[in-house]
Amino acid sequence: MFKFMKRTIAFLVVSTLAFGLVGCGNVANGRRIIRISHGQSETHPDHLGLLAFEEYVESRLGDKYDVQIFPNELLGPSVKAIELTQTGAIDFVVTSTGNLETFDNIYQIYSMPYLFDSVESYHKVMDNKELTDSIFKSTEAAGFEAVAWFEAGSRNFYAKSPIKTPEDLVGKKIRVIENPANVRMMELFGAAAAPMSFGEVYTAIQQGVIDGAENNELALTNNKHGEVAKHYVYNQHQMVPDLLIGNVKFLNSLSKEERAVFDEAAKKATEVERSKWDEQVKKAISQSKTMGVNFIETDVQAFKEKVLPLHKELLSKNPKLKPIYEKIQEINNQCKEVK
Ligand code: GCU
Repeated sequence: MFKFMKRTIAFLVVSTLAFGLVGCGNVANGRRIIRISHGQSETHPDHLGLLAFEEYVESRLGDKYDVQIFPNELLGPSVKAIELTQTGAIDFVVTSTGNLETFDNIYQIYSMPYLFDSVESYHKVMDNKELTDSIFKSTEAAGFEAVAWFEAGSRNFYAKSPIKTPEDLVGKKIRVIENPANVRMMELFGAAAAPMSFGEVYTAIQQGVIDGAENNELALTNNKHGEVAKHYVYNQHQMVPDLLIGNVKFLNSLSKEERAVFDEAAKKATEVERSKWDEQVKKAISQSKTMGVNFIETDVQAFKEKVLPLHKELLSKNPKLKPIYEKIQEINNQCKEVK
C-alpha cells in the first residue's frame, strides 16, 4: 500500500514537473518553491540537516522562497532524482557519491575500498575545500554541482547468514550502489554484485533475490533491513559520503547575497547532519540488537587484502583520480604521524 502511494505521489509530482508546468508549478503564493529530494526517512540525519537548510533559507529569504523536502524516495530513486536535478525539474537532491560516477568518473575515488585509513582522515579530506571543490564542481557542465557533504559512516556487509571472513562472501549475491567500481570490488571479494536502487533492497533480501547488502548501521533501522538480514560484520570496506547537489542554473540565478544565504544554509545542514550521526548510529545498534541483529567483529586486514588491487586498476583506467588519490594518501599519513 505504502509503495503504491509512494509511486502515485512520485508519478504525480514528476509528471507535473515534466509536462511543462514548471513555470507555474515552481511558484506558489508569489514564492519560488525549492524542491529537495532524498531517500531517507524523516528521522535520518540527512533529513534533519535539510530541515536546518530550510529553516536557514526561509528565516532570511522566506518572502521569496519556499523550501520543500521530499524524503523516502518520494520523487524517485537516487539516479532518477539526480536526473530531475540535472534538468532543473527539481532543485536539489541528497545522494551518495556512489550514484554520481556515471555523471563524472572523478566520483570513482570514493568507491575505492579502504581509501581512508581512519575516520579522522576521511573527515579531513571532506573538510578540505580545495580538494573537494575540484570534485564537487566537476559536474557543472552536466547541470549540477555539490554544495555540501553529509556523513554516511562506514559501509559494512550484512546478510541473512553470518559473514565472518572474506571466504564467507564467496558465491553470495550482495546488493551494491549501481556503479562499475562496486561491481568489480564484489568480484574481487568473490561475490556476485547485485546493483539496484536503495529502495529495492528490503524486498530483495526478504524474497531471497539477494543474500545481503552493505551499508552503515542506520540502514538496519531507518530502512528496516535488520528485519530481514540478521548478521552485520564490521569489515569497513568503504566510507562513502552523501552530497547535497543543486541545479547549476538555479544556483547561478541567485543574486550574490542570496547565494551567500544558500551557501551558509548548506554549511548549517552539514553541521546539523554530522552532529546527529554518532548518536543515531549508537541508537541504531541498540535497536538492531533488540531486532535480533548479531554484530560481528572481524579481521579487517583479511578483507582489505582481497580488494586492494582495485586501487591500481582504477588509477590506471581513470588517470584523473591520481592527484586526488595522492593527496588523500598524504592526509592518511599525516593522521598516522599525529598518533
Ligand atoms: C546510504 C546513503 C544513501 C545511499 C544508500 C545506498 O544510506 O546514505 O545516500 O543511497 O546508502 O546504499 O544506496
